Amino acid sequence: MRKIHIREVGPRDGLQNAHQQMPTEAKNAWIRAIAAAGVQEIEVGSFVPPKLIPAMADTAEVVEAALAIKGIQIVVLAPNLKGFQRALATGAHKVTFPVSASRKHSESNVRMTPEQMVEEVRKCARHPHPGVEVEGAVSTAFGCTMQGEVPEDDVVRVAASLAEFCDYVSLADTVGYANPAQIKRVFARVRKEIGVRLRSAHLHDTHGLGLANALAAYEEGVRHFDSSMGGLGGCPFAPGASGNVITEDLVFMFESMGVPTGVNIEKLMEARKLMVSAIPEEPVYGHMALAGLPKGFRAAA
Ligand code: COA
Ligand code: ZN
Repeated sequence: MRKIHIREVGPRDGLQNAHQQMPTEAKNAWIRAIAAAGVQEIEVGSFVPPKLIPAMADTAEVVEAALAIKGIQIVVLAPNLKGFQRALATGAHKVTFPVSASRKHSESNVRMTPEQMVEEVRKCARHPHPGVEVEGAVSTAFGCTMQGEVPEDDVVRVAASLAEFCDYVSLADTVGYANPAQIKRVFARVRKEIGVRLRSAHLHDTHGLGLANALAAYEEGVRHFDSSMGGLGGCPFAPGASGNVITEDLVFMFESMGVPTGVNIEKLMEARKLMVSAIPEEPVYGHMALAGLPKGFRAAA
């Protein structure tokens, strides 16, 4: 029984920031390989203006191909009603909306204030969407490369507003500024406010604290994690942000602690090879890839 739910966000968070564009067929093969490794939720792309992020222009085709894979949940990101309607037309299972707690990042990323963006998501949630889950992701919840400190009160307020109409709320360290004490404090504060609607931790490894932050979130009761294969990732509208916490290393950490993720590390490494061969010039990271599994390693039962 898996105790940790990992959502692979490489095909969206990773590729949106990559220098090299991954061809659609390669994306589809990569996503199939990720699913074959046992990952049950994959964020496969975003419905944003193709001119803004050309790497996401083929998201509808990618969703269509991914829907043929049995037993996985297909997630896409949308920044507004237009993106939500495009997502609904494809049959994606869940749509996640980035709502920055940082005013500066919000204006840079979605050209709306946090308050306007909350209202945009409310509009989407009111739009009929049978069977499709709506997630509000509080971006820059632990700091911002443009604004610097993001007051915790702002994070709690945005999360509480989103919880009024979203199925789930996640907290994102978009730029990798969080530390473990802060993760515990902010998750605890938001949970006190919105209870079980608080779901995932979306962490970046910019300052090398990705795994430490994941462990802190786990100790605070979080069981849903976003991560990206090879540590790809970053927000094109948050200068200085680098990759997500690395899926392979995150799975290894939990499995070696005896906490099952349902993900097979060897198969994950096969999927990583596909990804690397499709975008060979892209820098990728990961201790698992460098060191391999320790002698005598046993996955969690
Ligand atoms: N998908 C496709 N096209 C879209 C769209 C969407 N979701 N939203 C808007 N557009 C189109 C409009 O139809 C319009 O087209 P036109 O020029 O042919 O008339 C054009 O884009 C501008 O629309 P507008 O509503 O004025 O958007 P904007 O320029 O103010 O940009 C967002 C606002 C939210 C669309 C944009 O900032 C965005 O997509 N941000 C997300 C960026 C991102 O993905 N960041 C990383 C993930 S967190
Ligand atoms: Zn991210």
